[in-house]
Amino acid sequence: MVEPILDALIAPFRQLPESAPPHYVIDCTLGGGGHAAAFLEAFASDPLLSKHRLLGIDQDPEAIARARVRFEKELSTGQLELVQAQFSELGSILQESRRPALGILADLGFSSDQLNDAERGLSFQSDGPLDMRLNPSQGISCRDLLARTTEQELVKILSEYGEERFSNRIAKAIMDVRRKTGVPRTTRELADLIVRSVPPPARHGRIHAATRTFQALRIAVNGELEQLDSLLEHAILQLQPGGRVAVLSFHSLEDRKVKLAFRGENFKVLTKKPLEADEAEVRRNSRSRSAKLRIAEKEGSC
Ligand SMILES: C[S@@+](CC[C@H](N)C(=O)[O-])C[C@H]1O[C@@H](n2cnc3c(N)ncnc32)[C@H](O)[C@@H]1O
Repeated sequence: MVEPILDALIAPFRQLPESAPPHYVIDCTLGGGGHAAAFLEAFASDPLLSKHRLLGIDQDPEAIARARVRFEKELSTGQLELVQAQFSELGSILQESRRPALGILADLGFSSDQLNDAERGLSFQSDGPLDMRLNPSQGISCRDLLARTTEQELVKILSEYGEERFSNRIAKAIMDVRRKTGVPRTTRELADLIVRSVPPPARHGRIHAATRTFQALRIAVNGELEQLDSLLEHAILQLQPGGRVAVLSFHSLEDRKVKLAFRGENFKVLTKKPLEADEAEVRRNSRSRSAKLRIAEKEGSC
């Protein structure tokens, strides 16, 4: 969903007086740089917007390293700035640097680069270490989480973050294996264990039996809901009046948080219902099937 995000977040820049200093769009989730490239192109192709800038943030050092290569030119002209950080830190990043933010984008979750890198341990389709961290040098791996958690906590993670109906059985199976032979070391070992632990009819359904457990564990390992809370409670308050924030989420818990935050007194909601991907986009990228886009505007004028 590039177009609606671009249209919504660029609009306030057109309201700025010509004498205004450079303002920023903050891409909190740079990933492979798809949205970033669209913003940079929109700024570069319009003489009235060309002084404005993009600040790209990602917690993944590899995403930042790739962006340094892809956007070498824009970095050299100062049109793009990059920071490797979690977006929960955005409030202090903006305050300290005094960059005026007129647009904030968060496209939540993981990128296809991360999913396709077996070493990240995000996918049960390929075999890799059971890690799941989006920043491999921050926090604890999935394997460590499984080694430390109690069965009750695990059931809660799987049922709340994964809406996994077999959370009790899966958690028990993981605890049994942990006692007997140790926590699974690889994504394949965990996926096989999950398949064995669910009732036979659920083993070969349309969706792989490990899908929900992997999603739940990834959310827990990366503290994804806490990160979003922080972005919604603190960071977006740094937007300039008239600035806009767009959040693209893939999980009902995330979407609910965004919906509630945008109802706050400082914001006007621009999407009464969340925007969803059209058929063509779903065909191109099946993950967009569950995407929900909400956009809000900070009260006041720029
Ligand atoms: C769905 S991808 C973004 C794709 C990007 N919009 C594009 O067009 O290529 C999500 C990215 O956000 C990053 N990310 C997730 N949570 C984050 C957080 N709390 N702070 C910073 N980056 C985060 C991930 O590392 C990943 O690179």
